[in-house]
This record gives sequence, structure tokens and C-alpha cells, in this order.
Amino acid sequence: AGRSVVVGVGHYLPKRVVPNSEFEKTLDTTDEWIRTRSGIERRHFAAEDETTSDLATYAAKAALQDAGLTADDIDAIVLATSTADLTFPSAATMVQANLGMTRGFAFDVQAVCAGFVFALSNANALILSGQAKRVLVIGAETFSRIMDWTDRSTCVLFGDGAGALVLEAQDGAGTSDDRGILSTDLHSDGRYKDLLYVDGGVSTQSTGHLRMQGNQVFRHAVEKLTATAETALERAGLNSQDVDWIVPHQANIRIIQGTAKKMGLPMDHVVVTVQDHGNTSAASIPLALSVGKERGQIKQGDLIVTEAIGGGLAWGSVVLRW
Ligand code: ACO
Repeated sequence: AGRSVVVGVGHYLPKRVVPNSEFEKTLDTTDEWIRTRSGIERRHFAAEDETTSDLATYAAKAALQDAGLTADDIDAIVLATSTADLTFPSAATMVQANLGMTRGFAFDVQAVCAGFVFALSNANALILSGQAKRVLVIGAETFSRIMDWTDRSTCVLFGDGAGALVLEAQDGAGTSDDRGILSTDLHSDGRYKDLLYVDGGVSTQSTGHLRMQGNQVFRHAVEKLTATAETALERAGLNSQDVDWIVPHQANIRIIQGTAKKMGLPMDHVVVTVQDHGNTSAASIPLALSVGKERGQIKQGDLIVTEAIGGGLAWGSVVLRW
């Protein structure tokens, strides 16, 4: 059977970097609190005229360049975001136009912080079912636009950014060995809506702001993330001792450490970017994959498990060999 193999990766971070100390001027908070509770030291915020599809387009171009491909080689764009430019059309079709791509198809996936894992799983399904040969999978967000800047318990935690992968159908046999996506595992449970949501939207005629019961989300995170990662590994006939890199959603260093510990893996097997990016929701995993490769951590042939949880609750995991 064929496989979906990662043949390119790239990312984009807006120029403006905001250190924790900047929040000390407007909120009853400290760099020390933010660092010790979340692991975050700084985050990037998009410029006023920069939108999610702009960030996504830069990341997509970087991934195409890394793959040595052009937009004409792509059959589909799957873009994970909860902060699309407009209600419609999708941010994905805006990226399609920006890339000068006039064939194929593009659509958004909305599963909040788990969005990239959902997008990757769906892109893999498009490839395995023969509906597309090459898919751009993007996570892009401008969460700065939905922050309540008077709420110290949320506005210090999030950032803006984008990351992208090019997935390509390759024969399972012979040269490609066992590279590619090996298994996926997705979940959601809408009973937990009130733990993390935006109190506005199209149907309520407002933009709204992010609301989160952080300690409640935390309670679900380590347990659900460990379970989904272990399920995905088991589906691939593997276990955590086979893992070279956990590439987790970057929400909080304590969740990242707790999950690694529960999986029995030391932190030198985890790609961590939360200190520099904050929580970029659906963008955090592709950002971490791209930065992890740039740092020389992730190498071809490495076994990677990605895992994420966010609003919904929605959570899941994808196991792939890079
Ligand atoms: N500065 C100073 N004090 C603060 C701040 C701040 N920025 N924010 C909150 N506090 C205070 C609270 O008011 C509270 O004070 P109180 O005890 O007097 O009431 C105290 O700090 C402790 O608050 P907790 O919320 O219990 O702190 P906790 O240790 O749980 O850390 C955090 C909070 C960082 C939000 C953590 O719970 C967390 O990371 N949760 C998970 C977030 C997450 O993973 N979200 C999912 C992905 S996001 C998505 O899907 C969009």
C-alpha cells in the first residue's frame, strides 16, 4: 500500500516579538509567573495588516521551496485554523490564490489547538484514497485577534504564527522504506465546550474573545494526550521506546513534561518551542516540526509522534516516520 510522506516543511513567524515583561506594564502579572506556570518567555504577534492567510502563505512557500516543488505540483491545500481572515471563503482558498494555484482544491479544518493533527489525518486520508497525490497541510493562526487583553489568565499564553508540510503519495515498497504517516487517532467530546471557547461568532453577530478554564483543561490534557499517543503508536505496531521525537502541541511546558513522563520518555526526546512561540494553537506542531528540523533535532528516518488537545475538547495524535 502507498504512504503519505513528508517531502517539505516550512514556517513563518511575524516580526514583532513580545517578551513577558511587556505584560507587566498593563496587567497584574510578572515574567516570573508566566515563565514558571507556562514555560512561555516570548511570543510573536502579527502586524495589524497581516492576516492568517498571509502567515499561511509564507509558511506554504517555505515548505514548497524545501520540497523543491511549485504550486502547480499540489493537488490540495488543507489548512487548520480557528482564526480565518473572513467567515468565508476559507483561508485555504486565499492561500491557493496567493500561490497562483488554479487547479485542485482547498479547504479549512477547525479543531482549535488539535487542528493540525486533524488536518494531517485528513490529508493522509485524501492521499490513501487516491483523491490527491500531493497535499499542502498548513496550520496558521492569529490568536492575538481573539484575546481579551484585560484577562491575565489567557492573554499572556497565546501567539501568532504558521507552519506547513508538503505530503506526497509514495509507494510503500522499496525505496521509501517505512517513511511517512504510520497511524492516526482522533477524538472529540463536545460536553467540554465550556472549558475553552470563544464567546462570539458569526451566528451570534460578534467576534468574541477566548475564554478558558485553564486548570480544568490542564486536568484533561496529560491523561488524554498520553492515551491518544499510545493508541496511535500501538496502531502502528510500535511503543514509546521506539519514539525519537515527541512533537507536542505547545500550550504549556508542564503539560509537555507531564505527557513525556507518563509516556516514559526523557525531555531530550521532545521538541520544545513554547518558550519562543507561546501557544499558537493549530500552528504550533508544524512550527515545532520546522524549527526542530532547522535546529538539527529532527532527521530523515526519525520516528515522530505528534499530539494535541484544544477547544471542543478535541484531541488526537499522528505517528509518522520523517
Ligand atoms: N499572572 C499572575 N497571576 C495569574 C495570571 C497571570 N498571568 N493568570 C492567572 N493568575 C492567577 C490566578 O488568578 C490564580 O489566582 P488565585 O489562586 O488567587 O485565584 C492563580 O494565578 C492560579 O491560577 P490557575 O489557573 O490555577 O494556574 P495554573 O497553575 O493552572 O496555570 C495555566 C494556569 C497556565 C493557564 C494552566 O492551567 C494551563 O496551561 N492550562 C492549560 C491550557 C491549555 O493547554 N489549553 C489548551 C490549548 S489552548 C486551545 O485549544 C485554544
